Amino acid sequence: MTATIADPRLSGRSVKRIAFDEKTIAERVAELGAEITAAYPGGELLVLGLLKGSFIFLSDLVRQITRPLQVDFLVAASYGDGMVSSGTVRLLYDPETELEGKHILLVEDIVDSGRTLNRLMSLLEDRRPRSLEICALLHKRIAEELQYGTRFVGFDAPHEFLVGYGLDHAEDFRHLPYIASLQ
Ligand code: PRP
Repeated sequence: MTATIADPRLSGRSVKRIAFDEKTIAERVAELGAEITAAYPGGELLVLGLLKGSFIFLSDLVRQITRPLQVDFLVAASYGDGMVSSGTVRLLYDPETELEGKHILLVEDIVDSGRTLNRLMSLLEDRRPRSLEICALLHKRIAEELQYGTRFVGFDAPHEFLVGYGLDHAEDFRHLPYIASLQ
């Protein structure tokens, strides 16, 4: 069903539906923050956001984690045939923060094929963290190749092209405060 959403941010482009609205996201992010706070009773916690897609989720999430933490980022580039990820990931920005001996929580906006995470987790494991876990806002549950558990998940994602709350289509729509399915 096609709905017309009156939102000037969309500049006339229609979205099929709002998959997760602002209130639903905020409530789930608060729950995730509480889960994460409880999961790390001690030790140094470094929250690593994978850019660009995680930038809004990360900023909301860390404000819901009520224990000391540090924040840093990873920027990765994948290369493939344009449609399907090749699984080759190169770091464009490597966190400056020391990872060894810390609890590392890698924050991702969406797990699709899982190839990005496979490569990044392997890179991060080599830095000898005390623990290494994934927090993904959305999980499509199709990542048959994913070799790592996703300990914290916001929502199971519909198999649609999702934009907003950090997720883009050709760099547009990242600033939507909700997550929508594109036409
Ligand atoms: C997207 C998304 C995830 C990754 C998921 O990133 O943000 O990082 O793809 O796909 P996968 O599970 O199939 O590897 P993208 O490369 O589009 O970069 P972006 O975060 O800058 O949007």
